[in-house]
Amino acid sequence: MRDQDKTDGRISRSEEDMGHKIWSALQSYRLASEQEETPALLQQNATFLASEMKLEDWVRNGGMSQDNFTEFLQPYLQHSNHLHHPGFLGHQVAVPHIGSSIADMVHGVINNPMAVYEMGPTAAVIERVVINWMLEKIGWRSFRKITDFTSYSGQPGGVLTHGGSLANLTAVLAARAAFSPEAWDKGTPGDLALITPQSSHYSMARAASIAGIGSQAIFPALVDELGVLRPERLEQVRAEAVDQGRSVFMVSANACATVTGLYDPIDEIADFCQNYGIWLHIDGAHGASALASDKERHLLKGVHRADSIIWDAHKMLRTSALCAGILFRQQKHLAQIFSQEEDYISFGNTDYGFDMGEFTVECTKAHLGTKMFWVLAMEGEAEIGKFIEKQYSDTKEFYHLINSEPDFECPYLPQSNILCFRYLPLPHNKQVCLRKKILEQGNFYITSASIGDKSYLRLVVMNPLTRKETVYGLLREIRKTAESVN
Ligand SMILES: Cc1ncc(COP(=O)(O)O)c(C=O)c1O
Repeated sequence: MRDQDKTDGRISRSEEDMGHKIWSALQSYRLASEQEETPALLQQNATFLASEMKLEDWVRNGGMSQDNFTEFLQPYLQHSNHLHHPGFLGHQVAVPHIGSSIADMVHGVINNPMAVYEMGPTAAVIERVVINWMLEKIGWRSFRKITDFTSYSGQPGGVLTHGGSLANLTAVLAARAAFSPEAWDKGTPGDLALITPQSSHYSMARAASIAGIGSQAIFPALVDELGVLRPERLEQVRAEAVDQGRSVFMVSANACATVTGLYDPIDEIADFCQNYGIWLHIDGAHGASALASDKERHLLKGVHRADSIIWDAHKMLRTSALCAGILFRQQKHLAQIFSQEEDYISFGNTDYGFDMGEFTVECTKAHLGTKMFWVLAMEGEAEIGKFIEKQYSDTKEFYHLINSEPDFECPYLPQSNILCFRYLPLPHNKQVCLRKKILEQGNFYITSASIGDKSYLRLVVMNPLTRKETVYGLLREIRKTAESVN
């Protein structure tokens, strides 16, 4: 920065100009991506990228200013993964709504981490409102006013965390605390068992190990050929666990599964759990957003009977990463998870608001709810529901389109916005290689996945701008590219 711009910590005119220019560069980036003037993603190796962005020079010498920041920003954006591009059909990551981008910018300036109320009062209040909104959508509580902050231990409650993986861990810890309250002090008993399908997200197994339950305590639920949990076979799995001297403390079901986007039948699973008094957890990281739509919420029938649910807003509710809800039917479970009191973080702030840090793994926590609030505030909840409906019904349309081509096959009718398919002239074991070659062209960003021992290409239709023409273009590209797969 030039000497005349230095202002003893106060923002200088040139920094302000730089902010405006960056915002406008970002909007140009977004437009160019939406209009397919850039590739979706052109992968480059790390050394090349470091050199393109001149990282060595910037880190060692500084000197970035409004006159030269584009030397960094231009290659940084150019080589990013362009989520706004209609050919972005990759992971379950939202194409962020502009409201969420604005919220990130505001947070970047005010930096009010809000696990302790007095550090971020406005963001803390908003988080409670977003949690109330989620609780209402689950059907656990209806608020006359969404700003009702009264809470009692028998009522539902929740908190936002940095991602679904952390939310799943929090749920496992809560179920452990409910089953074995002494585990916090004495360690996890060695005879616990957790039932979940193999199609569960890997964060469930990771959570079990972190919580000291151990991966060997995971008993895979029996599933159909698409990996969907079969509730009528839960009894058999429980009996096996009991035979091995274990107590089943938790069943975790998918709503929906990461690979296929298919929903486990929650109501029937809840019958089993209720019968044995077993904690029912629903991993709704991706698919709980269907609760925002009257048309699609049937996919989670029985969800109100669960003990805990996770719900990622940074997937289908259009916020940037991250914003994940961990929600409990009875908020007393939230209070039991972490039996620790640190008087430097918890001031029991009930005079003004609420300290949330007691309920999360994180100490410093970002303004997660504010991102969701901006999306709600700009779109309204009805439009959010319509967005889910559009993405889900577009995906069904793409399924019919792909399946009606003689050289393609989809193994099932999608229930959500996740669609697996395969190019028939190539065997299953060549689909991953085909995906790699597609990515090399840069026009589409897609993933691949295995269902049982079969490999498929996988689309996650996150982008509202992905159209039938985009999918036809992808099929053309697959046919052409497949010629070079051997
Ligand atoms: C079903 C499911 N659960 C949990 C997660 C983990 O969420 P996060 O990436 O927010 O940690 C994912 C991520 O894709 C998921 O699909």
